[in-house]
Amino acid sequence: MVYGKDLTSLSPSESFKKCKCAATCYPPVNPYVHTTSNIEHSVYYNASGLECLAPLVRSAEETPDPIPTTIEGTIPPWINGSFLRNGPGKFEFGTDRYTHWFDGMAMMHRFHIREGNVTYSSRFLRSDSFVENSEKNRIVVSEFGTLAMPDPCKNIFARFLSRFQTPKPTDNANVNFVKYKGDYYVSTETKYMRRVNPQSLETKEKVDWSQYIAVNSASAHPHYDRDGSTYNMGNSYSRSGFFYNIIRVPPPEEKAAMEDSADLSGANVICSIPAADPRKPSYFHSFVMSENYIVFVEQPIKIDLLKFMLYKIQGKSFSKVMTWEPQHATIFHLVNRHTGKKSEVKYYTGPMFTLHQINAFEDSEFLVMDMCCGDDGELIGEFTLENLRRNSGEEIDEFYNSLCRNLPRRYALPLSVDEQTPADENLITLHNCKATARMTKPGEVGVNSMNFLPIVFGGLEFPQINYHQFNGRPYRYFYSCGFGHVFSDSLLKMDVHTKELKAWRYPGLYPSEPVFVASPKATEEDDGVVLSVIITPREEKSTFLLVLDAKTFSELGRAEVPVNIPYGTHGVFNEMG
Ligand SMILES: [Fe+2]
Repeated sequence: MVYGKDLTSLSPSESFKKCKCAATCYPPVNPYVHTTSNIEHSVYYNASGLECLAPLVRSAEETPDPIPTTIEGTIPPWINGSFLRNGPGKFEFGTDRYTHWFDGMAMMHRFHIREGNVTYSSRFLRSDSFVENSEKNRIVVSEFGTLAMPDPCKNIFARFLSRFQTPKPTDNANVNFVKYKGDYYVSTETKYMRRVNPQSLETKEKVDWSQYIAVNSASAHPHYDRDGSTYNMGNSYSRSGFFYNIIRVPPPEEKAAMEDSADLSGANVICSIPAADPRKPSYFHSFVMSENYIVFVEQPIKIDLLKFMLYKIQGKSFSKVMTWEPQHATIFHLVNRHTGKKSEVKYYTGPMFTLHQINAFEDSEFLVMDMCCGDDGELIGEFTLENLRRNSGEEIDEFYNSLCRNLPRRYALPLSVDEQTPADENLITLHNCKATARMTKPGEVGVNSMNFLPIVFGGLEFPQINYHQFNGRPYRYFYSCGFGHVFSDSLLKMDVHTKELKAWRYPGLYPSEPVFVASPKATEEDDGVVLSVIITPREEKSTFLLVLDAKTFSELGRAEVPVNIPYGTHGVFNEMG
């Protein structure tokens, strides 16, 4: 199936738009912004006649006891384990409504696969937010896009004072399942995580990162080393400034692995990177890791700390504290993850927005980084429930067409830059790589990306690879979601060598992030299956777990489950059952 269209085949009558792209909208704030690649990115179709997705963002019921599913086709009998997924699943308490999709209460889903059979269960995370909101039957804990209102039972003076209290971070960990020292946690982007039982989905203790190391938050996208250690990034702020910290959590000790308790002991900060502007640090959602390096991408999505301190007083939610400031360049901070030493070289590119990296690897004297990028960082704030629930037709078309669509890009950083490096000369000599890098002045290198997709249609996000074998190493395939609608409406497999794209796409079906599971006798990178949960707004309780052959991207089987599942965030495959 061919996905999208070649730009050269478009007829003049077809509708185009340009996104708010650095190359077209802004003065040249630095010399690296203007490339044809940016122009290529900025042209895409205007969609029309999109359907209403409101049923995909409504509250669901939990299914705590596993229920059977109906199998169509064949689920390969070698798949043994659980496909765990996270995401917002409850959007109101009493008459209070959340305003942003990210605010919904975490709902965990488990598809347990064994000998060709599948059962399904789900549970809401019993976070403090969930419990307190449930007890009061109203929203009492602020989330990303919703500010909890003062308790009406308090007297007017107490209500006034409550506006001056420090905002309480949420433990509504609705973004991802993550693993530290062999234990599963669900995670969001505050300083809290919740340990969970990956079999029963039972909520365990709340873990506060700041009790272990000096950070005020941690991302929901750690990276895993093959030695059993886990890397993550977190913010810290103090009198000495604002820092982005690279965290390392060591592998589990044998004795501790047997204990049923959270354990982040031994965690340490291996590198602290000062924010370019300490009053306005950047938002980040993930980071890049190869076998020897970590790259922190300081993008121009800024958190205004002054507004952050005042946001409760002003009655605004946290989402209003973030601003897209494309007058600033994007900085790549390169750190050796074994020594914690930060490169003296400053790598820059134009303003760009990224949530998820695809993979990164070292190739001779270069670090190659593939990531999903866009040119408009205002995207996050747009995902309000009001927007997502717009009616079909013009209302939802207008919203989708206003969104910048992220697409995969490749950047390459030259690792051997010194006084001898010639200025203003393309330093990238990698075969078949159109990404460029130029030393613009001593110690500063401007880089430009190359695009993967010769065709543009919709966007591409939620990238996944054969992580276990190929994370941080040269690789060939990634799997992702295509965004021909506000939520993903296709699954894609991309061959980064040949640029061939395979797609699974059917009208009315909305797949989740595809997760690759290698077959036990795998000899090639794509020997295995891709798992995704498919939902539809067209029919009640018509969810299914889809199993694709990762090599051919054709369907092997599906497990139908009569429940409604809201559109979710991330998931993992747990081989331990
Ligand atoms: Fe994410």
